[in-house]
Amino acid sequence: MAATVISFINQKGGCGKTTSAINLAASIASLGKKTLLIDLDPQAHATCGLGVRSDKLENSIYNVLTEQPERRKHFLEDVIVPIQDNLDLAPSHLLLSTIEQEFTNKDESVSKLYKLLLTLSFPYQYVVVDCPPSLGFLTFNALRASQTVIVPLELGTFSLMGVSKLLSMIELIRVKLQHTPHVYALPTMVDLRTKFSKHMLEEIAGAFGQHILKNGVRQTISIRESQAKGQALLQYNPVSRGALDYLAATRELLERIAGDTQTDLQTNGVRFELPSNRIKDFVLKAGDAREVHLVGDFNSWRVSPESLLWRTEEGVWQKRVFLDPGKYRYKFVVDGQWTTDPFNDHLEPNPYGGLDSVVEID
Ligand SMILES: Nc1ncnc2c1ncn2[C@@H]1O[C@H](COP(=O)(O)OP(=O)(O)OP(=O)(O)O)[C@@H](O)[C@H]1O
Ligand SMILES: [Mg+2]
Repeated sequence: MAATVISFINQKGGCGKTTSAINLAASIASLGKKTLLIDLDPQAHATCGLGVRSDKLENSIYNVLTEQPERRKHFLEDVIVPIQDNLDLAPSHLLLSTIEQEFTNKDESVSKLYKLLLTLSFPYQYVVVDCPPSLGFLTFNALRASQTVIVPLELGTFSLMGVSKLLSMIELIRVKLQHTPHVYALPTMVDLRTKFSKHMLEEIAGAFGQHILKNGVRQTISIRESQAKGQALLQYNPVSRGALDYLAATRELLERIAGDTQTDLQTNGVRFELPSNRIKDFVLKAGDAREVHLVGDFNSWRVSPESLLWRTEEGVWQKRVFLDPGKYRYKFVVDGQWTTDPFNDHLEPNPYGGLDSVVEID
């Protein structure tokens, strides 16, 4: 399948993922491109927002993602619901919320959506994925399957904290799966009358550089009205401010996507540039170790799949983290043993009588 896959990702709730996924998909469809919207959020808001009742459906994306390929009864094509000209929906179901526990082999299950899309026989030009407000299995799957990731940022409450975590996760996908999606920020709920919105736009530009869509989406009441009606804005009110904003954002995005491919050819795959002073590469030589984690102030000292380092063939463990300016204490956890960083002389005593490694980002 040669479709371009675009995912809406931000672990922050209520920043406009679903609204943007629905209206971007409808805008692309209105430009005559065959489009599939996949609702990957157990809350099923995109499904409902397009007037489909997920509790009435026999099958959803859940069935397709959970069946073993060799015992497959459902294909993605089986669950697709036509919405309007050029726009189809793969609906979600509440059962999706149980999917995380069902997969024990995490490494392989990260590519489930990607593989599913590879075998899709319908000739879609674009696949748009709406993700849940978390960085778990479903979002990982969307990242793996996407060439383009859009991070909606609600200007009212924008914070860089969550964004760093998301960018670290994209880095993880790059290192582990050699897959680098293009990332764009989309400002949502913009109210340029407020100083705060203007200030936040500058902040986003600082963090995302040129990877910010100039055509943000203004705050508008028509969005809620169209959602209550179960329609995309372009259907509900094609001349509304929201419909026009999404159409402009869509045109810009499609142009940028077309340019992305060219850039790839010219720059040999170097795509998303993070501000280099905020990138910290943590490295540890531990050839015999089975598992190495990085814990510190930046991840609440929590050992989790997200804190894992990746091992190179030479036995070097590494992890790249995107950090906001500040001072951070950290340690490695090597097969359960907490140790300081042997490559870093900057150590400070901790309240437990031991030492922590310290890194400062300005
Ligand atoms: N441009 C806008 N103007 C006014 N209201 C908006 C706008 N965009 C989104 N909203 C409203 O903000 C709320 C959150 O939007 P949305 O559901 O798209 O966010 P989300 O990121 O998908 O949330 P979740 O993380 O729960 O999935 C919704 O009630 C929606 O109607
Ligand atoms: Mg949503």
